[in-house]
Amino acid sequence: MALLPILEYPDPRLKTVAQLVEHVTDKHRQLIRDMAETMYAAPGIGLAATQVNVHEQIIVIDISPEKNDLLVLINPEIIAFDGETSGEEGCLSVPGYFDKVKRAERITVRTLTESGKTRTFDAEGLLAVCIQHEIDHLKGKLFVDYLSTLKRSRLLTKIKKQQKESARL
Ligand code: NI
Repeated sequence: MALLPILEYPDPRLKTVAQLVEHVTDKHRQLIRDMAETMYAAPGIGLAATQVNVHEQIIVIDISPEKNDLLVLINPEIIAFDGETSGEEGCLSVPGYFDKVKRAERITVRTLTESGKTRTFDAEGLLAVCIQHEIDHLKGKLFVDYLSTLKRSRLLTKIKKQQKESARL
């Protein structure tokens, strides 16, 4: 197992659109284990392959307090949306920044499992929000893309200032 480096906003590689996984292989299963380890170590509740610079449609999620309920999504697709919710989101690729994002409250997801089988399930609340956030990553989209232009440019100014300061150390 290995910890993988996580790309940080505004790295342009985060805008890459991920490819479909044609066959789930041992190589993917190894990547999934490394992604899970990276997510747990961060710590975070979700990680998309895009964030570790692998541009295939793979996501790991674990919203359980005990961190023992790993959900793996491969080529996930949201086939039904219902309701609306708005909560504070953060992202391992935008460390230290949180803001409200509007999401569907309930979703139906069709995905492949780690063994390559198709699975369809319903999700709501935090899990539904997390799945929508991670699927956005696979499309090259970050939660900060939903912010107003003003908020996003303030965030970018802050990040640039932080980068300059850390470069001086
Ligand atoms: Ni994220």
